[in-house]
Amino acid sequence: MEKVLDVENVSISFIQYTQGLNQRELKVITDLTLDVSEGEILAVLGSSGSGKSLLAHAIFGILPENANLNGKISYKGKELSQEDKEELRGKEIALIPQSVNFLDPLMKISDQAIGHIDSKEEKAEKKIKQREIFEHYNLGPDVDEMYPFQLSGGMARRVLVSTALLSDPKLVVADEPTPGLDEKTVEETLNHFRHMKEDGVGVLLITHDIHAALEVADRIGIFYSGYVIEIAKAEDFSGDGENLLHPYTKSLYKALPANGFELVKGHQPLHGEIQEGCPYYSRCEMRFERCKNERPQLRDMGDKKIRCFKYEEGE
Ligand SMILES: Nc1ncnc2c1ncn2[C@@H]1O[C@H](COP(=O)(O)OP(=O)(O)O)[C@@H](O)[C@H]1O
Ligand code: SF4
Ligand SMILES: [Mg+2]
Repeated sequence: MEKVLDVENVSISFIQYTQGLNQRELKVITDLTLDVSEGEILAVLGSSGSGKSLLAHAIFGILPENANLNGKISYKGKELSQEDKEELRGKEIALIPQSVNFLDPLMKISDQAIGHIDSKEEKAEKKIKQREIFEHYNLGPDVDEMYPFQLSGGMARRVLVSTALLSDPKLVVADEPTPGLDEKTVEETLNHFRHMKEDGVGVLLITHDIHAALEVADRIGIFYSGYVIEIAKAEDFSGDGENLLHPYTKSLYKALPANGFELVKGHQPLHGEIQEGCPYYSRCEMRFERCKNERPQLRDMGDKKIRCFKYEEGE
């Protein structure tokens, strides 16, 4: 299967002005590496404020002006420039944004889903397609004439999903599509992703909801303190978690209610707090001397990836 997304060693930082003219760099994402293939759902699991929306916006080319982006983002093997992203977005690459505020409050739903098209024939064709997809997502003709404020939360999410699919994307980036939804709508939303996968679409599911991730994803990338620390297979989250590699991933798994709610002590250091050495050092029960000052790299272990010295030869 062809890779539709390759994110390699991406970092995103902001310049912060402290007192007077002093400035410091606030690194939100330090080293993020992941990839998504056609017909695959890869979930990125990270806590709130860890930079998940920034990742989505970096892929889509809509980072805020003051953000510094480094590293490589490729689509089907080709590194994307800002111009490429602008060219592909809303076409081959679609974003399902976290916030329904992405909907234009002053525009009717159907008009914004279709977007600006000059040719009358093309517009009519797109309108037919829009109606078909909307129908599929249980959005009747009356929705076309509505404004965003007239939609319920669940309807607004379905509008965002169907609008994203209207362009026949090859890659869908879904930024926290489930929080705040009732159980039925969550299930429905996850089903949409299963259908996209069946259609060969690559889905990057960005979430802090481990249950949602486990339900639909093929692989799960664990994001911690600005780093991807492990990319595991969804089926590794089973049994005693013995197939999971990183101590943090194991602890996440043990913290699930079904596994006894064992929470690991300490907190996740976020931007600016991160020390040299392994980002998990302060909480790790397996740590050793080397972990304190040296930073482990993300290593390939066949079909998984791990960032921990324990898995290096000779340790
Ligand atoms: N425009 C900005 N200027 C400065 N810092 C920002 C800006 N946008 C985001 N950040 C920082 O990035 C952090 C992560 O943001 P975000 O990607 O929205 O997190 P998540 O989606 O994981 O909750 C925020 O907590 C904030 O510290
Ligand atoms: S590198 Fe060391 S501190 Fe970091 S997770 Fe592995 S054992 Fe723990
Ligand atoms: Mg977010």
